[in-house]
Amino acid sequence: MTNKRRDFLKFAGLAGIGIAGSSLDSFATGPSSPVDAMLPQQNREYEHSRIQHFNMSGYAAPKIENVRIGIIGLGQRGPSHMKTMSAIEGVEIKALCDLRTERAVEIKKRLENTDHNPDLYSGSEDEWKKLCQRKDIDLVIVTTPWYLHAKMAIYAMEQGKHVASEVPAAGTIEECWKLVETAERTRKHCMMLENYSYMPFQLLMLNMAREGFFGEMVHGDCAYNTSKMKNNFNKNMYWNMWWLRQYASRKGNIYPTHGLGPIAQMMDINRGDRFDFLVSVESKDFAMAAKAKELAKTDNYFDEFAGKDYRGNMSTTVIKTKQGRTIVLQHDATTPSPHNMIHGLYGTKGAALYDPQPPRISAGKHEWVSAKEYEKIERKYTPEIFHRMGELAKRSGHGGSDLMIDWHLIDCLHNGLPLDQDVYDAAAWSSVVPLTDWSVRNDSNSIKVPDFTAGAWKTNKRNMDINLERGGTTKVIS
Ligand SMILES: NC(=O)c1ccc[n+]([C@@H]2O[C@H](COP(=O)([O-])OP(=O)(O)OC[C@H]3O[C@@H](n4cnc5c(N)ncnc54)[C@H](O)[C@@H]3O)[C@@H](O)[C@H]2O)c1
Repeated sequence: MTNKRRDFLKFAGLAGIGIAGSSLDSFATGPSSPVDAMLPQQNREYEHSRIQHFNMSGYAAPKIENVRIGIIGLGQRGPSHMKTMSAIEGVEIKALCDLRTERAVEIKKRLENTDHNPDLYSGSEDEWKKLCQRKDIDLVIVTTPWYLHAKMAIYAMEQGKHVASEVPAAGTIEECWKLVETAERTRKHCMMLENYSYMPFQLLMLNMAREGFFGEMVHGDCAYNTSKMKNNFNKNMYWNMWWLRQYASRKGNIYPTHGLGPIAQMMDINRGDRFDFLVSVESKDFAMAAKAKELAKTDNYFDEFAGKDYRGNMSTTVIKTKQGRTIVLQHDATTPSPHNMIHGLYGTKGAALYDPQPPRISAGKHEWVSAKEYEKIERKYTPEIFHRMGELAKRSGHGGSDLMIDWHLIDCLHNGLPLDQDVYDAAAWSSVVPLTDWSVRNDSNSIKVPDFTAGAWKTNKRNMDINLERGGTTKVIS
């Protein structure tokens, strides 16, 4: 029996018995985990035998008065969440974990003179499990490199914890399914922390889409286009050069959710519509291998990165939805173009475009509205969450979205409300990573996006409460 065939049967068998009996051995999402050529067959097999155990869409867990938090991964993103979370009322940071002891100690120091005195876990690759096993933690925030997110999130849910995972939440389709099945079985939240949904323009657009300004949504253009050439080749930026290793081992869009998430919400993906299939095409790599080779000439640290087959520089994906909408999603981390999210929305009655700046809106007359008219529209459609939190949030990163997302997550947990993004969003948005990898490796053939909701998308209700119809009672204390 070939290895591929054996893997397929293992996958199909897993589908039959459900996730409960499966081990974590099948997590192989480290830097070199090529997508299986049989992915389309695996997807079909899995989907046919899929039963939704419990619908996590709209799910509200019991209220938690004081949310006790553990954070795994203290590079850049972990401390950022630590800072915002420590400023929110009714939060206690109980534990911090990082592989590197000196980093964990350094980050804990930032909490001196606050009410938080977390225990530290560090020094070995599995210390994070001890953090998850604690009985006095309600929410685990996962901020390690993304190929580690799913296994940590699944283990945390198994230990009875809600999970908030940095983006993307998974790197393989199997991981996406395991996230969904574990959340449904344990009834624990698994929210991906897609903060770009809380940027001022994205919030405004979501409200306008919901209020019908655009009519029927027809098409969305979105991207995460921002040069990471300096960061990815900087020896002191990311732990173990993990981003560079991802570019050196994968194809397709390896960072889709900042662009895709907000557009998916405007199109009610998983709530009335869903991703149907996608195709992905990418340029060749004109820059990364050359840079690695150049650096290796004078610094043998870069020897291992020279001669690698890097992901192409410009990744473009087209997604078709079940209701007939289209999305074009790009990822460019290499060219010297300025930061560009695109964020173009095209409906039957209106359109909008964020990047290149300035942002523009069309009210349906084949022209962009004047600056005065733009302001009027902005005043009319800015959602309540922005009125309430916008000024305060400005102090946090990513256009204020860093505080806004953490604050609303905690507020929903305090008030026992559904979260803004659920496990089906985490799975569908993250599934673009392995699906685009497969498409690129297969002459840009189309591939179906699994229905992680098992049909529930037809009746699921909207869930991001941007007008704070409920809750909104949590205070920011510093
Ligand atoms: N939402 C956003 O705006 C945003 C911005 C940046 C990064 N991110 C995401 O956040 C995540 C973290 O990115 P980063 O820039 O902080 O990376 P980083 O390299 O700075 O930090 C990763 C940390 O994880 C630790 N780590 C690695 N293996 C571990 C293990 N087994 N146990 C415990 N700790 C371990 C490393 O020591 C390191 O401190 C990534 O998945 C990235 O995609 C999101």
